[in-house]
Amino acid sequence: MTDALADHADRGLRRGQPLVELTGVGKSYGPVRALHDIDLRVVAGEVICVLGDNGAGKSTLIKIISGLHRHTSGVLKVDGQAVTFGSPREALDHGIATVYQDLAVVPLMEVWRNFFLGSELTSGRFPLAGMRVREMRRIADQELRKMGIVVHDINQPVATLSGGQRQCVAIARAVYFGARVLILDEPTAALGVKQSGVVLRYVAAARDAGLGVVFITHNPQHAHLVGDHFVILKRGATALDARRGRVTLDELTAQMAGGDELAELSRELARPSTDGKRNTGSARGSEHRS
Ligand SMILES: Nc1ncnc2c1ncn2[C@@H]1O[C@H](COP(=O)(O)OP(=O)(O)O)[C@@H](O)[C@H]1O
Ligand SMILES: [Mg+2]
Repeated sequence: MTDALADHADRGLRRGQPLVELTGVGKSYGPVRALHDIDLRVVAGEVICVLGDNGAGKSTLIKIISGLHRHTSGVLKVDGQAVTFGSPREALDHGIATVYQDLAVVPLMEVWRNFFLGSELTSGRFPLAGMRVREMRRIADQELRKMGIVVHDINQPVATLSGGQRQCVAIARAVYFGARVLILDEPTAALGVKQSGVVLRYVAAARDAGLGVVFITHNPQHAHLVGDHFVILKRGATALDARRGRVTLDELTAQMAGGDELAELSRELARPSTDGKRNTGSARGSEHRS
């Protein structure tokens, strides 16, 4: 699998090279301030995990990097140059590819057609252009096999693949078409443990091939398995920014679970004890007793 990606790794990437850099980036949707003052670096050969609760600003952040939305403050640099993308096409031209949560695949279309969707190989010129169907089937089949995704029949509809395989088809497509930065919006959110493993292996393979990966997730375990750097967003701001080795899985989990908010909730929801007083089952409980 890693070898398959290494074929495509010849994109002028040096491990550790900064590909995308955000400095003080903010985004307002009218009066709604969705993001403020975000610093983030996407580096070749590393996975940066962006974690956060619903509404924390994760999708907004990647929409800015992938050209879907414009930032309203701060600086976005790609390969050291300040940019403001006008469209996803511009981001793609810089090698920034995004696999969205809701996957840009068409379930009833064949696997090979999904692989080439929007970038079909054609011969001749309009109006006599023909699609090079046989070649597209062959390439799609070969690329997926190289990654260890064995599709029974490249002509089967994408809907018949497992969730993990579908994610991998979308990732494989992005890599095949020259991605240097791969952005994955919650690729494991809807998957079970085994299927998540399929996707996480592929995330690691993309990293090993030298791509810069932005991995958005709710799941601290998944993040910790593949991440080199961790950023937790809370209400649009950075709540934690740490490299691997500087933060434990327990700390990530506690931050994600909203440790403080949970303690608060625990007090609020505590059942009254038989003597009519609130029993919080914690240190506070002993206050009542004394
Ligand atoms: N297109 C939009 N228009 C207005 N508000 C938006 C839009 N997209 C997101 N928001 C708001 O921005 C905040 C962050 O949302 P989002 O980036 O989707 O968070 P996440 O992906 O972490 O769940 C939320 O308060 C959300 O309601
Ligand atoms: Mg989101």
